[in-house]
Amino acid sequence: MRRRSVALLLLVAATYLPVSIATDTIDLTASIAGNQTLLSARGAFRLGFFSPPGSPAGRTYIGIWYARIPVQTVVWVANRQNPVVQSPGVLKLSPDGRLVIVDGQNTTVWSSSAPTGDVTTKATAQLLDSGNLVVSSDGSGSSQSVAWQSFDYPTDTQLPGMKVGVDHRSGFAWNMTSWSSPADPSPGQYTVKLITGGLPEFFLFRGPAKIFTTGPWNGVVLTGVPELKTEAYTFVLVSNPNETYSTYYISSPSLLTRLVVEGSTGLLQRYVWADGAWNNFWYHPTDPCDSYARCGPFGFAYCDTAHSPECSCLPGFQPRSRKWSFRDGSGGCIRKTKLSCGDGDGFWPVNNMKLPEATNATVHADMTLDECRQLCLANCSCRAYSAANISGGVNRGCVIWATDLLNMRQYPAVVQDLYIRLAQSDVDALNVSAAGKRRRTLVIAVAAAISGALLLAAAGCLCFWRCKARRKRQLQAPGSGDNVLPFRTRKHPDLSPAREDDENKMSCGEDDLDLPLFDLAVILAATDNFAAESKLGEGGFGPVYLEGLRMGKK
Ligand SMILES: *[C@@H]1O[C@H](CO)[C@@H](O)[C@H](O)[C@H]1NC(C)=O
Ligand SMILES: *[C@@H]1O[C@H](CO)[C@@H](O)[C@H](O)[C@H]1NC(C)=O
Ligand SMILES: *[C@@H]1O[C@H](CO)[C@@H](O)[C@H](O)[C@H]1NC(C)=O
Ligand SMILES: *[C@@H]1O[C@H](CO)[C@@H](O)[C@H](O)[C@H]1NC(C)=O
Ligand SMILES: *[C@@H]1O[C@H](CO)[C@@H](O)[C@H](O)[C@H]1NC(C)=O
Ligand SMILES: *[C@@H]1O[C@H](CO)[C@@H](O)[C@H](O)[C@H]1NC(C)=O
Ligand SMILES: *[C@@H]1O[C@H](CO)[C@@H](O)[C@H](O)[C@H]1NC(C)=O
Ligand SMILES: *[C@@H]1O[C@H](CO)[C@@H](O)[C@H](O)[C@H]1NC(C)=O
Repeated sequence: MRRRSVALLLLVAATYLPVSIATDTIDLTASIAGNQTLLSARGAFRLGFFSPPGSPAGRTYIGIWYARIPVQTVVWVANRQNPVVQSPGVLKLSPDGRLVIVDGQNTTVWSSSAPTGDVTTKATAQLLDSGNLVVSSDGSGSSQSVAWQSFDYPTDTQLPGMKVGVDHRSGFAWNMTSWSSPADPSPGQYTVKLITGGLPEFFLFRGPAKIFTTGPWNGVVLTGVPELKTEAYTFVLVSNPNETYSTYYISSPSLLTRLVVEGSTGLLQRYVWADGAWNNFWYHPTDPCDSYARCGPFGFAYCDTAHSPECSCLPGFQPRSRKWSFRDGSGGCIRKTKLSCGDGDGFWPVNNMKLPEATNATVHADMTLDECRQLCLANCSCRAYSAANISGGVNRGCVIWATDLLNMRQYPAVVQDLYIRLAQSDVDALNVSAAGKRRRTLVIAVAAAISGALLLAAAGCLCFWRCKARRKRQLQAPGSGDNVLPFRTRKHPDLSPAREDDENKMSCGEDDLDLPLFDLAVILAATDNFAAESKLGEGGFGPVYLEGLRMGKK
């Protein structure tokens, strides 16, 4: 009895612990069989057969996972649709340069696509520390010799250095597709792909339906993903006649981060490994305002800090339907005044919007903004225009929307100017009301300043009076007083009073309304590298951390 359980234990350990064949490379004579694995040179990634937890017994897949963390996190799967059912499986490199998986009956269950170029008898397949499995046609490993690489065939995960986008020469797409379920790596219903119509823009699809877009790329940001501005990793979008793709690089090789399309939730999610677990860095769709085209044509969504969605019409537009409610604006908006298609039209700028979907927009890379305006005015189907590239704070190029404006959402912060075409009478009306508002704001500001000064003076008097009273009390009863503040006990112990001031400023000021634009370094510092004592609790999407006060001190 006892012997049996020990044997069982050994068996469990044996199947759990992979056997590394002490190399990162296979050539035409070597192979990976059963529980053997490849380990990348510096030990970052491992490749071998695995069975997802919960999958039918005996099914194995070739995958790549992180070698240094205790949670097996698979970032790439070779035979996602063709598991090995008859174990043991064998992975080998065939003389024609294809990677091949055969099962226990010597039946081929999967093979990689044909290599580019000729392969020699010295060809190798090597697992790199980036997590890329590379077939080198001559075994040299040089970039010219790359005949096939796993990075060209993403599954559901984008690792640093991996591309998501399109190769215009071949029409090939680097897209990410979710797993069907945590137990089944076969392609699920969620896909992320790039569409390069006018401006490049990434779309999250559920089956054929668009459910979220990142917003068009304006040379600086994807206008619907404010979290891209971070110091922990560098987001890059490359666009040239050959290819358009996004990738990212991490500043520290010890930082483990991955971007995943989750099959169970349908979220595009960035994880960061810290404190022994995968932490949620950001995800989209974040709130109902992220839903694709939620507020219909010429409408835009706004989610306040409480995340209650609200639809509004662009300036100069009104709801199409009388039944249009703030929560369901899917019918969209129509113009208050028809365009005259000539001198009778003008433009009204809005600047705090995710740009409208630009897949059908037209880009003129060499035009100035003024020429752009002229071009838009001269074409009756033009609805709006904007600069195509605002890199370095300079307006370059021109985008023209000759379609309904879709999929906008409002942000508290400025994104870039979008000029909406309206009848001149509507532009004038908006201008008058904006001027009125500015005047009113001025009046209110002056009034507020005066009453603020009065209040401050009053508070000063009160404080002076109370301090005096307290000092009197303290003299009478030492040790008592108001350092027992129940609300403060959860705060970070090393909070100094000076920092408290900072915090009060932060939580009372306008910053509060801004989108969470924290960069990872700040988050890591603020949470003591996601330390357990900084953890406040667990939300539906993962742990919630106390933002320590180092935020202001960048
Ligand atoms: C690897 O698998 C073989 C046969 O499948 C088995 O005999 C061996 O014990 C395993 N080794 C380990 C360390 O898992
Ligand atoms: C597996 O099949 C290949 C080609 O079909 C053959 O060359 C090889 O000898 C077979 N191996 C075994 C163990 O049957
Ligand atoms: C993803 O890209 C591949 C390769 O270009 C393509 O065959 C496939 O259809 C794409 N998947 C989706 C869902 O678009
Ligand atoms: C935007 O402009 C910058 C500066 O000229 C340039 O480096 C970058 O390639 C441009 N981006 C695109 C997408 O055209
Ligand atoms: C585009 O590809 C061609 C060959 O395919 C190459 O010569 C050229 O340098 C590439 N251009 C860019 C911008 O990468
Ligand atoms: C873009 O054009 C295609 C083809 O005309 C159309 O089916 C699609 O709805 C358009 N998309 C937008 C956002 O206007
Ligand atoms: C107006 O713009 C649309 C879309 O950019 C274009 O298809 C059409 O040819 C333009 N018409 C004229 C008269 O330039
Ligand atoms: C608003 O009115 C001012 C003063 O008449 C004018 O200078 C400005 O260009 C107008 N703005 C727009 C967007 O028409």
